[in-house]
Amino acid sequence: MEEEEKKQIRDLEDLPGVGPKTAQKLREAGIFSLEDLAVSSVHELVEKAGLGEETAKKLLEIAQDYVGQGFVSAYDFYNSRKAVERITTGSKALDDLLGGGVETQALIEAFGEFGSGKTQLGHQLSVNVQLPKERGGLSEPDKPAQAVYIDTEGTFRPERIVQMAKGVELDPDSVLKNIIFIRAYNSDHQISIVKKIPSLIHEGKNIRLIVIDSITAHFRAEYIGRSNLAERQQKLNQHLRDLLKLATVYNLAVYVTNQVMAKPEGFFALDQQAVGGHILAHAITYRIFLRKGKDRTRIARLIDAPHLPEREAVFRISEEGVRDV
Ligand code: GTP
Ligand code: MG
Repeated sequence: MEEEEKKQIRDLEDLPGVGPKTAQKLREAGIFSLEDLAVSSVHELVEKAGLGEETAKKLLEIAQDYVGQGFVSAYDFYNSRKAVERITTGSKALDDLLGGGVETQALIEAFGEFGSGKTQLGHQLSVNVQLPKERGGLSEPDKPAQAVYIDTEGTFRPERIVQMAKGVELDPDSVLKNIIFIRAYNSDHQISIVKKIPSLIHEGKNIRLIVIDSITAHFRAEYIGRSNLAERQQKLNQHLRDLLKLATVYNLAVYVTNQVMAKPEGFFALDQQAVGGHILAHAITYRIFLRKGKDRTRIARLIDAPHLPEREAVFRISEEGVRDV
């Protein structure tokens, strides 16, 4: 494509061969921008947006070219807008373990047994993301950060959010208002909720954190037995890819929980390479294993982090929330 031609592409409708109808189909499939398109797959475009395979391939190529290469000024803009930011957990020790807090453009999985603090941390992050940037959150003046909280187990407690909000001296009512809470009733529902998040963002919501507590419970309950294991894994991997894509495209953090008795081996056999080609190649996943320690403390162990050593941090859960010991 000539440079001149590229410069004119701003919206989906500007793409060659995309009329209002196709643009509409793309939007219904959750693709609102060239960036969204660039991280889609041919399969998605065919299955969900009803495009022909050839058209899908062509559009993908153009969008990736636009976003990823060539058009330098847009690329720079895209990247500067998407610098990695961090949300404090409320504990300096835990933040340090994670390299300075919970990162945007990344997915963090907390796993551990019952009562180990997975849900508490999800509540705390939903509050802390709303702190101003200088206090470890992602709110900007006149632009409060918002969280989407997807609850699969019925353990979300607004009363606990109020306590935690008071604990960081934020107004409890506005904190509650900036948490978009939704109960997911089965795995398909959970998947479809995640797919609707781009439309919330395009409506103007400033979503900087997605919590799913728990990401695995429905999948475990619905896909029982060895024969269903492959299908479960495939669906779960696709769900994770959807989440990583959101994290990357919208510069937000994703926190998911997973109840397990012991350190599982490869439960999330997520193939980083398959996540979305070159654009998502840098998408990062962190896994922390939580367990109960002495005197009501909690111990977090960082597992498999690509650039951080495997080590531990001790924190506690107090009336005000997650804190240092
Ligand atoms: P499962 O969902 O059952 O797998 O457990 P989980 O890992 O989500 O545990 P959760 O985050 O619910 O942790 C529960 C623990 O947090 C409790 O046992 C308490 O120790 C602590 N906790 C919860 N609420 C409060 C509170 O209001 N005050 C204090 N001090 N501690 C709390
Ligand atoms: Mg829980």
